[in-house]
Amino acid sequence: MSEIKETPLFTVTIDGQTIQVPAGTTILQAARMIGKEVAPPAMCYYGKLENTGGNCRTCMVEVTKGSEADPRPMPKLVASCRTTVMDGMVVGNKSSERAVTAREGVVEFLLINHPLDCPVCDQAGECKLQDLSYEHGKEETRYEFKRRTFETEDLGDKIQLHMNRCILCYRCVKTADQITGCREHGVMFRGDHAEISTYLEKSLDNEFIGNIIDVCPVGALTDKTFRFKNRVWFLNPVDAHRDCPTCSGKVQLWYRGDEVFRVTARKNEWNEVEDWICNTCRFDKKETQDWVIEQPSVVAKDSVIRQGHYAGKVGMVKPHETFKRVMKGRDPKLLLNIHDVSEVNEPERDLSKIDGPATSKDFKE
Ligand code: SF4
Ligand code: SF4
Ligand code: FES
Repeated sequence: MSEIKETPLFTVTIDGQTIQVPAGTTILQAARMIGKEVAPPAMCYYGKLENTGGNCRTCMVEVTKGSEADPRPMPKLVASCRTTVMDGMVVGNKSSERAVTAREGVVEFLLINHPLDCPVCDQAGECKLQDLSYEHGKEETRYEFKRRTFETEDLGDKIQLHMNRCILCYRCVKTADQITGCREHGVMFRGDHAEISTYLEKSLDNEFIGNIIDVCPVGALTDKTFRFKNRVWFLNPVDAHRDCPTCSGKVQLWYRGDEVFRVTARKNEWNEVEDWICNTCRFDKKETQDWVIEQPSVVAKDSVIRQGHYAGKVGMVKPHETFKRVMKGRDPKLLLNIHDVSEVNEPERDLSKIDGPATSKDFKE
């Protein structure tokens, strides 16, 4: 009788928090199991795809204890998405000065050729590079040379490539490889000359190719049916589905008023696609009657898309206008300005005098 071997559990401590995970788990996956507060940023790793990670170096961490059996620290920082845990390993992410400093350097490198396109870029508001720069970047650049530039390129009739914004994470290449079953585009050349390109200008017309837009962490791959039509923070995402013969049909519809501006796949808390969707659902079904609406999508608390998200939503009840109700329909004659009596504007809490962005600590007693 053959014995079923159970995967041993390894204990790993990340930023002081300990967890047990099956052998073979990477440091990044273990950190995600603990929670967002210890999870390193990941610009190229993508849980839904195979063999991703190891390209961007944003997930670097310091291993201060290799394992129980060999407690020596690892001499160099390691990519947490590519390093598996050992039993007894101790890892520093945000608590490691070396990792934090190295990440600043990685962000600086990612930005040396990056254009200042945010005001016109469709990804603004949901861009992982914006978040990364805000959380881990520096305020200024030391780069003095001319930035690398490319012409925009159409990848088929629905997708446009802005190579200037690409961070060469390879996610789109892996997505095309793994879900369309045919490799139609890839990274050409190397180093400073590397660029995403379709082989022989071949258009990407596979039925699932639209998913490369969703996996792109920046605004390098844009949906031509949505480009420049709206800013994402003015849109309200709702979960919806349809009976699709090609894909799961589970999507997010992005509304402004009654109009569907774009359709995307749903994403999980790590901003990774839950179910791949087909091009028909993504590009051709933009009427409410095409869909069964489920509920307002859950939007992360720290996302700019959350502003106004629940206004006018399906199934949501608008709160009563309190003043008019208690005053039996009349408008108040006098309104008290609470800013004059609250302590928020005391000189020592004047937001304009806070060194850097305000946080909840600035409002504590
Ligand atoms: S990809 Fe992100 S950081 Fe780059 S221009 Fe667009 S929004 Fe800005
Ligand atoms: S186009 Fe986007 S997904 Fe593709 S390599 Fe560049 S940044 Fe990554
Ligand atoms: S997420 Fe690990 S190297 Fe990019």
